[in-house]
Amino acid sequence: MSVTTHQLIQWKQQRRSIVALTAYDYAIAQLIDQAGVDIILVGDSLAMTVLGYETTLPLTLDEILHHAKAVRRGVKQALIVVDLPFLTYQESPQQAMHSAGRVLKETGVQAVKLEGGYPAMATTISQLTSAGIPVMGHVGLTPQSVHQLGYKKQGKTVEAGERILQEAIALQEAGAFAVVLEHIPADLADRITQKLTIPTIGIGAGPHCDGQVLVTSDLLGLSEKQPPFAKAYVNLRETITQAVKDYSLEVRENKFPNS
Ligand code: KIV
Repeated sequence: MSVTTHQLIQWKQQRRSIVALTAYDYAIAQLIDQAGVDIILVGDSLAMTVLGYETTLPLTLDEILHHAKAVRRGVKQALIVVDLPFLTYQESPQQAMHSAGRVLKETGVQAVKLEGGYPAMATTISQLTSAGIPVMGHVGLTPQSVHQLGYKKQGKTVEAGERILQEAIALQEAGAFAVVLEHIPADLADRITQKLTIPTIGIGAGPHCDGQVLVTSDLLGLSEKQPPFAKAYVNLRETITQAVKDYSLEVRENKFPNS
C-alpha cells in the first residue's frame, strides 16, 4: 500500500515528521523510495538540476510528463506529486484541469503541485479537488515568480507574513492536502503550521513544519550551486569526478580492462 494524502494528515496529528525529496528519473526514484521517503516530488526544479535551464520557467508539460513516467516506474511506496510547470495552469481553472488531468492519466501518479495563493490559485485548487485531483499548494518563495520575487526570503515583514498565512489558509479551504512553505522565516512557518490542519512541508522554512523537502541533487552534493538552506549529506560531485579520473587514467595506462 502506498502512502496516501489521508495518511499525511494523520501523521500531522500524530506529530510524525513527513520526509519528502525530489526525483526526476527511475534509478533515483527507486533508491529513495526503497530508503523509505514518504513523498517523492517530481519538481519543476528538473528544469535547472537536470535539463540545465537558468530558471524553472522554460519547462514544458511534455518534458515533466516524460520524467514523471520514469519516476512512477521506480516507486512502490511513496506518494508521488508532480509539479505543474509555469503557464500550464495559471491561465484558467480549465487549463489547470487539462494539465493536471494529463499528469494523472498519462503517468499514474497520485497528485499535482502548483505555486501561488489567494485568490486565483484557491479557485483553481477548489475546481481540481472537486474533480478528484489531489493538490499540494506552494507559498512563500515561488520560483516560477523569480522575475518578480528573485530567490529572496519571503514574508519578512508583518504584512508580508500575514499575507502568506492567509494564502496558506485559503489553499487549505480550497481543498489542498498539504502546502509547501519555501524560504520564509521559521517563526512564520511555525504559526502557519499551528494554524493549518493540513501538513506543511518546509524548505528553507525552519524546523517547525510538519515535514521537510529537499532537492535531491542538493542532498547528494550534485548541484553546481545550492540555496543557503540546503544541506548536502554527501559530495557526489567530488566522488564522480574522482571515479571518472581513475577510470581515464587506467584506460590510458592500459590497466583497464585486464586480460
Ligand atoms: O521544484 C521543486 O523541486 C520544488 C521544491 C523545491 C519544493 O518545488
